[in-house]
Amino acid sequence: MNFELKAIDLKSATLPKTDALVILVPNDVKPSRDALSALIHEASQSANFKESAGKVLSLWKPAPVAVDRLVLVSCASAQPKHIRQAIQAAAPAIKNIQAKHVTLCLPTWVDNALTVAMQTLAEAMYVYTATKPSAKPNSLKRVVLGLPTAQSVKQAKPEFAYACALVAGIAKAKEWANLPANHATPSALAKAAQALARNTHMRCEVLGPREIAKLGMGAFQAVAQGSQEPARFIVLHYQGTAKTQAPTVLVGKGITFDTGGISIKPAAGMDEMKFDMCGAASVLGTFEALAHLKPAINVVGLIPTCENMPSGTAIKPGDVVTSMDGQTIEILNTDAEGRLILCDALTYAKRFKPQAVIDIATLTGACVVSLGAVRSGLFSPADALAQALMAAGDASHDLCWRLPLDDEYAEGLKSNFADVANVGGRDGGAITAAKFLQRFVGDMPWAHLDIAGSAWKSGVSKGATGRPVGLLLNFLVHQQTNSRKRTNA
Ligand code: BES
Ligand code: MN
Ligand code: ZN
Repeated sequence: MNFELKAIDLKSATLPKTDALVILVPNDVKPSRDALSALIHEASQSANFKESAGKVLSLWKPAPVAVDRLVLVSCASAQPKHIRQAIQAAAPAIKNIQAKHVTLCLPTWVDNALTVAMQTLAEAMYVYTATKPSAKPNSLKRVVLGLPTAQSVKQAKPEFAYACALVAGIAKAKEWANLPANHATPSALAKAAQALARNTHMRCEVLGPREIAKLGMGAFQAVAQGSQEPARFIVLHYQGTAKTQAPTVLVGKGITFDTGGISIKPAAGMDEMKFDMCGAASVLGTFEALAHLKPAINVVGLIPTCENMPSGTAIKPGDVVTSMDGQTIEILNTDAEGRLILCDALTYAKRFKPQAVIDIATLTGACVVSLGAVRSGLFSPADALAQALMAAGDASHDLCWRLPLDDEYAEGLKSNFADVANVGGRDGGAITAAKFLQRFVGDMPWAHLDIAGSAWKSGVSKGATGRPVGLLLNFLVHQQTNSRKRTNA
């Protein structure tokens, strides 16, 4: 789906050729003499339209304008909430006629309007087809976004570029997250990262089992050893500014399938554990967005990826392994595998002397119990970093919520046979997982996002959400603004 931004004056007779003209109609339309404006004004005055956002009036070959389909949709204001409602409501009309080319006119430009509009439309039109030949693919190829004046188009340009990058990033994350585990293998993820690295400013290294062993990543290796699929450790580099600028490191959990291992999970719903690489997918998605946007920052993406399988070669409860930083770990539950692959990736991250390291992981069922699907769990001992991530979540409507990291929560991780156990008790499970990770971050400014509840939906609309690409991109781009402020100061 391609987006273009144009000035479109609805009063002028020359409207672009399009399969469907969708017009967001606010409450305060001024009457005007041309036929289309008169129609819009009349619609805006109807009680139905006045009341709320998302009321749709779909017309076939309407007299005032030369299009097959005119869709007027009420949009009480330019608030993101109303734009979202309006576009969600208009989407079925676009799908019904299988439009290839749509022109979508917004009444005014306010900050965020384009991002919300484009994100909502992309979300509504998304169809998974990769392993479903019978699915009717999304027909929409071109979307022209219309703003009323050349002036507003000029003002909106930077936001338009941001939104294009974001939509592409979210699409990438969803596509990889939705692929089944026999397609999205660790090697396939590595190939996707290598393909991304063909973009300018990007570079990718892929380490295999031998290199992983050589680095001493004993915890990561322990998880991978039960599977026939060879593990991969993916290192993506985006260099958008001088090498001297410390990078932000993103670490994505890439368990391409989590059976639980010998501590095997129950059968019901186990298919959803193909989504246990959503952290990895969000890193790929964020890098896709960086490739489009090319901000003046440096970012490193780390993806430890493997399967968690039960087998004759799998780790057993009670096994003790040595992590890359030398701490020994008693694996009391082989289903707490995410933290095992992440701890070695966090140790690896230290070599970049990052300004911040953020890990993104579908880490605990306990986080789903705490926060449901609305907010991701946010953990960080660094207040400024935590606040910046919260703000990025708010601004991008990709919400998170900070949970505590008191040392008392780490009590349960004590082991008689190793430096640390990989599980605490059942209580506060999302926090004990974070406490485990914290042991490996040293003095790097670190945050952990538990996306177990937010990364995908279950039930009839089962599928990846593309979260938290919105949060991450917003955070990274603001970091650019902040570091510019610092250098100017
Ligand atoms: N990938 C799961 C976490 C998960 C479970 C995410 C359900 C989304 C839905 C993770 O590897 C896991 O199995 N965690 C265990 C930890 C426990 C053994 C301490 C869990 O949450 O049950
Ligand atoms: Mn698990
Ligand atoms: Zn897992």
